[in-house]
Amino acid sequence: MHIHSSGFNWWQHGVLYQVYPRSFQDSNNDGVGDLRGIIQRLDYIQDLGVAGIWFNPFFKSPKMDFGYDISDYRQVDPLFGTNEDLLELIQQCKKRNLKVVLDMVLNHTSDQHPWFVESRSSKDNPKRDWYIWHNSPNNWIGIFGGSAWEFCPETQEYYYHAFLKEQPDLNLRNPEVVAELKNLFRYYLEMGVDGFRLDAVNTYFEDEMRRDNPAISPSNIAPHITQKWVYNYDHQLNFTLLDELSAVVAEYDDRMIMGEVGRDGSDVDAWKTYYGSCNMRLDLVFNFDLLYGEFTPLKLANTIQLWETLPECKWPTYASSSHDQVRGVSRILTNTTANLYQKSTLLATTMLCLRGTPFVYYGEEIGLEQSFDLPKNQIRDPLAIRNNYLIEGRDGCRTPMKWDHTLPNAGFSTTAPWLPINDTHWDINVNTQLGNPHSILHWYRSLIKLRNETPALYKGEIEILESAVDTLLIKRSYEQEEVYIFLNFSEKDVEIPTILLNQHVLITTSSLQNILSPYSVIIV
Ligand code: GLC
Repeated sequence: MHIHSSGFNWWQHGVLYQVYPRSFQDSNNDGVGDLRGIIQRLDYIQDLGVAGIWFNPFFKSPKMDFGYDISDYRQVDPLFGTNEDLLELIQQCKKRNLKVVLDMVLNHTSDQHPWFVESRSSKDNPKRDWYIWHNSPNNWIGIFGGSAWEFCPETQEYYYHAFLKEQPDLNLRNPEVVAELKNLFRYYLEMGVDGFRLDAVNTYFEDEMRRDNPAISPSNIAPHITQKWVYNYDHQLNFTLLDELSAVVAEYDDRMIMGEVGRDGSDVDAWKTYYGSCNMRLDLVFNFDLLYGEFTPLKLANTIQLWETLPECKWPTYASSSHDQVRGVSRILTNTTANLYQKSTLLATTMLCLRGTPFVYYGEEIGLEQSFDLPKNQIRDPLAIRNNYLIEGRDGCRTPMKWDHTLPNAGFSTTAPWLPINDTHWDINVNTQLGNPHSILHWYRSLIKLRNETPALYKGEIEILESAVDTLLIKRSYEQEEVYIFLNFSEKDVEIPTILLNQHVLITTSSLQNILSPYSVIIV
């Protein structure tokens, strides 16, 4: 359906780069990134060798959840620019052969969206049924904590919100709502965008009988979650709606539809359901499998094997960082002697050499680390604030991009940025790394180039030849071409497996012969 005539699609072939617009580049010096700032940096993104960009939402919004609470889907928020800036951004991306993927938040709107303002105003308002209203709440809790039902004094009823109370859920059972959303898709597809990343697709529909969810003991990571979301997650109708949305995308050539499905990776059948059957539903499912926990060869081997059970017509995705989770570089080789270069190059090599679409989250390519333990007065994420700071929140992975350490605020803005610059390492900035052929940035660029030029790497089969506590040996092959990737996660030298000896080295971080130095990688 969304298949390109070559049979192998751009979203499979290429690397996708995730830009969090608030934190990429500020062009008007208000401390917040914007679309014109991104336009200024498109050459940089193009030089990375990526195929396209997924932009987090920049639509009109009161920004209670930093843009995931939209009050006008067809308007760029003035903080980020204008609709003309968006057109220019799309055009400039096209010029550079960069695909544009927009973030579509369809589960909910902002409570300031005119639809909701109308809906809450009276029980007989024509928009009443655009949201989910009930005269009594059940036990469901929101993903950000607290009851998922909010009382509305005007009409003495409760509305449902899977996330914040400022993010009321749309009633996606209402055909008028769905028709509106389909038209929204067409509006952006006509504008020339190449695809959508659909936010939180597993929360679209809830049990019509509103049965109570069973209780669970909360974990350390999510102490605010005290129940298993049985009746407000993974509803069958989610899949029906995704099929319909997918059909709209298929009205246009060569476009992509991806869904964010936040869950842990153990339940692989549930993930598969979101992919649907061949040529239907989602082209890509953005999973959270490597977004949690530590990065070890055994975990990686496990994850790879899991995704290799997808049907052949479906295509995995791999991400180690995002705007919602602790950055991968701050989760790999923790409590070891590995330095940032070693951590970043190991991470990059693993992620960019798997069979599936890799996502690179802005800053990852220069080794930007998580900002842990921000002081309370610098925390902005409602997830942390509304849970009395018992949860760390997501600010630490959203700090500004670092362009040039000789400029104020690392060249991100001339004004104090909305989140503090992470200054753990002075050389974590684009300018310094561009001048250093042994930098993390050069490693990313070289590796992406290698991947783009090597069919075995971008579309070949994958096989794990060896996975041990400290090492991983992966084989990628396409027709006659065979590529081996060997990764050393240990602080010791390890012998290179015989199968790799005397082969042409494509790229390595090790300077030794026949031996892989600590925390190094080799591709032959
Ligand atoms: C998704 C987004 C996250 C947002 C939430 C609610 O999980 O990635 O940032 O807070 O949905 O829209």
